Amino acid sequence: MVSSQRRCPSIGATGAAVIGVCVVAVISMCIALAVCLTVNRNPPQDSAPKPAFETDGDLLEYLLNLGSIDRKDGLLVTWYHSANKKSELAASLKSDAMVLEADVNIEGHNTRNETDKPIMAHPPTIYSDNSFQEWLDVVLNSSSKGIKLDFKSIKAVGPSLDILLKKSSEVKLNRPLWLNADILMGPNVPINTAVNASLFLSLIQEKYPNCTLSLGWTTLYLFLFPNKTYTQKMIQKMHSIVGTLPQRVTFPVRAVMVRLAWPHFSWLLAQSDR
Ligand SMILES: *[C@@H]1O[C@H](CO)[C@@H](O)[C@H](O)[C@H]1NC(C)=O
Ligand SMILES: *[C@@H]1O[C@H](CO)[C@@H](O)[C@H](O)[C@H]1NC(C)=O
Ligand SMILES: *[C@@H]1O[C@H](CO)[C@@H](O)[C@H](O)[C@H]1NC(C)=O
Ligand SMILES: *[C@@H]1O[C@H](CO)[C@@H](O)[C@H](O)[C@H]1NC(C)=O
Ligand SMILES: *[C@@H]1O[C@H](CO)[C@@H](O)[C@H](O)[C@H]1NC(C)=O
Repeated sequence: MVSSQRRCPSIGATGAAVIGVCVVAVISMCIALAVCLTVNRNPPQDSAPKPAFETDGDLLEYLLNLGSIDRKDGLLVTWYHSANKKSELAASLKSDAMVLEADVNIEGHNTRNETDKPIMAHPPTIYSDNSFQEWLDVVLNSSSKGIKLDFKSIKAVGPSLDILLKKSSEVKLNRPLWLNADILMGPNVPINTAVNASLFLSLIQEKYPNCTLSLGWTTLYLFLFPNKTYTQKMIQKMHSIVGTLPQRVTFPVRAVMVRLAWPHFSWLLAQSDR
């Protein structure tokens, strides 16, 4: 009895010691596992070989792969508008926006100073501290954000696509690329400032077809005429242009004018499963 009473605590102590060792082992296994997970998690983000994402790939699929969105819903995508000047680009890269939207024009557009150098500026601004070449280098070097380029003049398109092509022969762009222009006259615009559709599309087919096209109408919203919106003719004209294109196509629209023209847009979207 006495000996067993003496033994019990000692067995207890041994048990506790064993459990203690086990706990320590479990904790160190956890630490090891955590280290493994961390180690495994880091490389794919920058250096580990991973199949590059083609520039004509689906933006939602790309963002889903990155873990930026948890389902393929376009409303979850966040955009940084007008990431043009160096300071704006820097701010956009620091932001958590998933896609950079930037405007490309030609330096000194339509003045005697005009060059063939693509720059990042929204009209009426025609000069910039950021050339398209510099913009692209910085974006590709420092982020995995998607790219949407909005061309403000047909003159900027050829030189920009040449830069893209050269760059993509050196490094993988490895993200979705949208090429955007307003190619048709839309509601309320008095003069035609649209980018020439056939020239825009043929330059893209010739120089950089691996993209998603974003094709819109020039628009002006007049609050005195709240029910002036896209007409069936405008929408049909777009369809006659995009119907045979090989790329994915998206349509940027002026949100305030969409509801009244919804039957036309609904028809347009139903014409294709792309
Ligand atoms: C052309 O550039 C010069 C100097 O860069 C500037 O002074 C001049 O105003 C510009 N001309 C036009 C038409 O923009
Ligand atoms: C991009 O990164 C490369 C290698 O890290 C570096 O040599 C190059 O200068 C960087 N370019 C820019 C524009 O930051
Ligand atoms: C677009 O450019 C082509 C070739 O220069 C020209 O024939 C056509 O008329 C232009 N289209 C419009 C709508 O200006
Ligand atoms: C375009 O995409 C195809 C595959 O879809 C790829 O083989 C080709 O290298 C890409 N070209 C460029 C310039 O990215
Ligand atoms: C458009 O708006 C005007 C003025 O608000 C109104 O009188 C007219 O009935 C509207 N037309 C349509 C087709 O809704």
